[in-house]
Amino acid sequence: MSGSEGSAKREQWGSRIGFIMAAAGSAIGLGNIWRFPYLVGKDGGAAFVVIYLIITVFIGFPVMMAEFAIGRAAQKAPVLAFRALGVNPFWSLIGWMGTIAGGFFTLSFYNVVGGWTIKYIIASLTGLMEVADVGKTGEFFGEFVVRSYEVVFYQILFMLITMGVVVGGISKGIERACKVLMPTLFVIMLILIVRSVTLPGAGAGLKFYLHPDFTKVTGETFLDALGQSFFSLSLGLGIMLTYGSYIGKEERIPSSSAWTAGLDTLIALLAGLAIFPAVFAMGFEPGSGAGLSFITLPAVFAKMPAGMIFSCLFFLLLFFAAVTSAMSLLEVAVTFAIEKFHMTRKKAVCVMSVIIILLGIPSAMSLAGDLKIYGKDFMDAIEYICNNVLLPIGSFLASIFVGWFWLKPAIKEITNDGQVQFRWLNTWIWCVRFVSPIAIAYIFYAGLTW
Ligand code: PFF
Repeated sequence: MSGSEGSAKREQWGSRIGFIMAAAGSAIGLGNIWRFPYLVGKDGGAAFVVIYLIITVFIGFPVMMAEFAIGRAAQKAPVLAFRALGVNPFWSLIGWMGTIAGGFFTLSFYNVVGGWTIKYIIASLTGLMEVADVGKTGEFFGEFVVRSYEVVFYQILFMLITMGVVVGGISKGIERACKVLMPTLFVIMLILIVRSVTLPGAGAGLKFYLHPDFTKVTGETFLDALGQSFFSLSLGLGIMLTYGSYIGKEERIPSSSAWTAGLDTLIALLAGLAIFPAVFAMGFEPGSGAGLSFITLPAVFAKMPAGMIFSCLFFLLLFFAAVTSAMSLLEVAVTFAIEKFHMTRKKAVCVMSVIIILLGIPSAMSLAGDLKIYGKDFMDAIEYICNNVLLPIGSFLASIFVGWFWLKPAIKEITNDGQVQFRWLNTWIWCVRFVSPIAIAYIFYAGLTW
């Protein structure tokens, strides 16, 4: 093995803010914009927000710190990280599962949806959605997703853009892009919020979104909050482990994790403020998931004065959110190829992207018809396996590993060898040893319904 050159000139993030923007870019994605607001509306408004915050602080955040710590200590791709740490080879399973589930499978379907956002930016510009009728926008969406060649075209286009950034490397590619895209995303979000909350009748949407309704809190609410927290923070799929492997030794893991988780939660909350007031003001019912973004909102925009501009801005926002998350997923596969097979970055990006595009084609085509696995659409099935099976197993093993088998080195890593005071160290230890594994095991068990 000729591994020596890799460790000598391994790249690093150029600055602390750049790293935080990149990690937040990974975390802030489609999950924040189309899933979180919908869950808040469905699961009791502010009551859900409180539960989500508690879960993110005591379960998501500790696991994120654990992933950053493993990554930075090992300075290697997830599949090689555990060997580099000199621990039992069993733990490499975390790296392999994360790489396959995140770098390959999650990205394969994330691309497809990323492609839809490009289609909708163009459709907004060309006035294809001037219809203020969800029946019609539903038809538009339904007719688009079954034109497989077009869906695949946009999927590839989205991937090419992602590749264009990742080929530039960690600091000159991903970091540079995220430093521009994330603040832009934030500004677009603020513009949309101002527009949305100043529409006449916006109050009903605010009430739907934030009115605390504790009667809606059930076991499912906790399950939704846990699953959403992990997905939203990009945990369990080797992503934060990979990003952590590029942080410098002087970086403070606790505060960087707090910034990343905080920004992710802020954007998720703001997304609801941008969406629901407008939906209610225009007299629509909020749908969920893809339907909310691609069917309800186009109709809402069509009804709004200067709706075309807001529609473009919204899909641009969705595109930025998706592409910065896709970069992180591709980086997992690329770091793997560079360090495992000693490829150059350029070659790794090309080879991995071709594999990921090919893996994504059945997802893109499954929307048109009969490509099913045990009764589920291919895309839904892949998403289910990644999010409900591999992601919780990865996070569970990562917290067991850090909490029970690698605690001392982890503490060393988190406190920068004792130089950084981390006031919540004991709480973190307790969370990573007990709270996270028990909670994750519970989501895993309760979420297994095909
Ligand atoms: N965290 C991102 C979101 O909320 O959409 C997307 C994501 C990226 C999820 C990477 C999972 C993942 F492994």
